Amino acid sequence: VKAKTRSFTGKSDKTAEIGVIGAGIMGGGIAYVSADRNIDVVMKDINKSGLQLGLSEANKLLSKQVDKGRKSASQMGDVLNRIQPTLHDAALESTDLIIEAVVENPKVKEIVLAGLENAAPNAVIASNTSTLMISGLAKSLKRPENFCGIHFFNPVHRMPLVEVIRGEQTSDETVAKAVRYVEQLGKTPIVVNDCGGFLVNRCLTPYMLAFNQLVLDGGDIAIIDKTMSKSFGWPMGPAHLTDVIGLDTAEHCVESMDAAFPGRLGAPEVNLFKIMVENQRLGQKNGAGFYNYVADRRGRVK
Ligand code: NAI
Repeated sequence: VKAKTRSFTGKSDKTAEIGVIGAGIMGGGIAYVSADRNIDVVMKDINKSGLQLGLSEANKLLSKQVDKGRKSASQMGDVLNRIQPTLHDAALESTDLIIEAVVENPKVKEIVLAGLENAAPNAVIASNTSTLMISGLAKSLKRPENFCGIHFFNPVHRMPLVEVIRGEQTSDETVAKAVRYVEQLGKTPIVVNDCGGFLVNRCLTPYMLAFNQLVLDGGDIAIIDKTMSKSFGWPMGPAHLTDVIGLDTAEHCVESMDAAFPGRLGAPEVNLFKIMVENQRLGQKNGAGFYNYVADRRGRVK
């Protein structure tokens, strides 16, 4: 029997079990970092292949830790055993906190979020949305006070910052619960107010849009990448970054940011990311984006 507190009042109120909805790039990463910090995880997707991808990501990261001598094989097994894959909402009933990380599409998210409220009436529910307003997503909810944004960055196991977004109706208890969970992961929470793109993507989107326009104007992708990473000391340039993010996610982000700030972001007439998606170039997730990728025998993409 697991001892859990649901009071949200004391500092000792640790999150014991979370739900993660969507086992993709972000959901798989959130499940891994949480299980690695002794939190039980129910990971839900709509299909088995999605779940398999999420689990293989955890497997890959843990194998690396074992290779480096940072974890034993049995510790690796313990972490993996904490992640329970499922296709059903019913498994979420006992969770303290549920993080939604499905595709960046408001209609899909609204349906998923409404279902979660019914499946786990006592849980705090959070969205990992990159750009959609929390107050907008909350409109479909019966208990908007229990809802906030918890926005991780990619790759989840490496990036230390997490935005906690306070929607118009988010309660202080919900914000406190989210902040404590992020701290439990050893990451740095920053509480931000609600707007399209929050803090980080408000800055990042104009950069990505400038890149989009530069390529449409004939700019050389490899030279742009090299210049931006070398001159700013960033780990990668915008083409490589978009491949890591996923072109489909980048496409949705550009569209929702343009809708949130019409005419203010300098959105180009042609969404290059959309064209890439139409041509099945989704980035590292399917091996083809601005660059081509191959997976080595351990599944690492190069
Ligand atoms: P992804 O495309 O890698 O994964 C999405 C997963 O959701 C897939 O496994 C899909 O099968 C599953 N899914 C779709 N509909 C579902 C449903 N109704 N119920 C359960 N599962 C469902 O997407 P990714 O990149 O992980 O993005 C997820 C969210 O995280 C998006 O809101 C995105 O904006 C946000 N995000 C993405 C970042 C990135 O760099 N990719 C960074 C930060 C946030």
